[in-house]
Amino acid sequence: MNASRLTSRRSFMRMAGVAAAAMPIFTEAHFAQAAMQSAAPAGTKPAAPARRMRMTYPEGAVLINANENPLGPCKAACEAIGAIAHKGGRYDIDGETAKLTTTFARQNGLKEEYIAVYAGSSEPLHFTTLAFTSPTRGFVTGDPSYEAGMRAAMISGAKISKVPLTSTYAHDVKAMVAADPNAGLIYICNPNNPTGTLTSKEDIAWAVENKPKGAIVLVDEAYIHLSDSPSVLDMVAADKDVVVLRTFSKVYGMAGIRCGFAVGRPDLLKKLEAYGQNAMPITGSAAANVSLLDPELVPTRKKIIGDIRNDTFEWLAKNNYKFIPSQSNCFMIDTGRNGRSVITAMQAKNVFIGRTWPVWPNVVRVTVGSPDDMAKFKVAFKEVMDTAPVSASLHSPYEPVGFPHLS
Ligand SMILES: Cc1ncc(COP(=O)(O)O)c(C=O)c1O
Repeated sequence: MNASRLTSRRSFMRMAGVAAAAMPIFTEAHFAQAAMQSAAPAGTKPAAPARRMRMTYPEGAVLINANENPLGPCKAACEAIGAIAHKGGRYDIDGETAKLTTTFARQNGLKEEYIAVYAGSSEPLHFTTLAFTSPTRGFVTGDPSYEAGMRAAMISGAKISKVPLTSTYAHDVKAMVAADPNAGLIYICNPNNPTGTLTSKEDIAWAVENKPKGAIVLVDEAYIHLSDSPSVLDMVAADKDVVVLRTFSKVYGMAGIRCGFAVGRPDLLKKLEAYGQNAMPITGSAAANVSLLDPELVPTRKKIIGDIRNDTFEWLAKNNYKFIPSQSNCFMIDTGRNGRSVITAMQAKNVFIGRTWPVWPNVVRVTVGSPDDMAKFKVAFKEVMDTAPVSASLHSPYEPVGFPHLS
C-alpha cells in the first residue's frame, strides 16, 4: 500500500473513530448504571463511564431500577434459543428474522416492508432521531420522559423542547406541537417512561394531523402491552407520518436477548438505513417469533405484573406515600426529599431503584419486580422514609419539587 493511501486510510479510521465516539447509543441499562454510580456514597471507586456497560451488583441485590422483567423470556422462547444456538456459527441463513417479520406483519395488518428489525429498540430510537432532527429541525419531548431520544437529538445539534406533562401526566400534545414550528420529530412515549401514564389515541392522532410539515411523530410503544392503551400501528398502516417503536425487552422479558422493531412507511424507514443495521442474533429473532405466537403470553404477564403493581400501590397509599398510579411496569414516588439521597439509602440496603428526572428531583422511579422484590422494597423504603433526610449537601437546588398535580 502506498504512503498516500495509508495516510488517507488512517485519517478515515480516525474520522470513523471520532464519529463513533461522538454518537453513543444509550439504553435503559446505561441510565440505570449512571444513576447507580451518581448515587454512590462519596469515597467509593470512581464510576466507569456510563457509555460502557460494566454493571455488577452485590449478591442478592433487588434490581428494580431498569424496567426489566423478572419473568424473563417465556418457555417457548427459551426452547427456541436452545434449539437454534448450535446454528450460531453462521449468520441468519435460515431466515429467522424474515419469519419474525412475517409474523408481526400478519398479526398487525402491516406490509412486511413497513417493519425493520433491530437488536432492541434503542438503535431505531437513536437512528430515527438522528434522521429527522438537525440544527434546523428540532426534537420535542414530554418532560419527564425517556431520555435516550433527547440524547440523540443533542448529537444532531437539534433544538430540544421539553414540554411538561398534563395534569393527568399525559403528553400535552397541543403544547408539544406549538413548542417548535420547525420540529423534525415529536417523541411520544406511550405508556410514558418514567410515569407509566397514558396519552390518548385521539391526542396522538391530533399531533399527527397538526405537527409541522415534514416532521414525524415517533410513538414509543415499549410498554404498550402492559396497559389498556390501543396501539397506533394502524396509523402506520394508513401511511401517516408516524414511526412506532416496539421492543421485546419489557412484557416479553428479553432485554438481555435483544429484539425490537421500527415500524413505519418504507420511505421513512429508508432514512434510518444511513446509520446501518447490525445483523440480528438468530436467538433474538427466533425467541421473539415464538413469543409473538404465544397467545397467552401478553394477557398472562399483563395480569401478573399489574397485580404486583396494584398491591404495591395499595401499600403505598396505606402508608401515605405520594405516587402516580401507572399502567406500566414502573411508577413514580414523590419522596418529599432529594430523590438521589433516597436512591443512595436504598442501595445501602441492597435495593436498587430507578433514577430521578431533573424536572422532579424529589421523585424516584421504581420498577415493578417480583413479589419477593417488592416485599423487600417495602421494608427498605419504609425504613429509609422513616429516617430523617441524611445530608443537606445532597439536596438539589431545585428543591422542594415533587409532583405538581398531586396534593
Ligand atoms: C421507552 C423506552 N424506549 C426504548 C427502550 C429501549 O429498550 P431496548 O433497547 O431494550 O429495546 C426503553 C428501555 O427501557 C424504553 O424504556
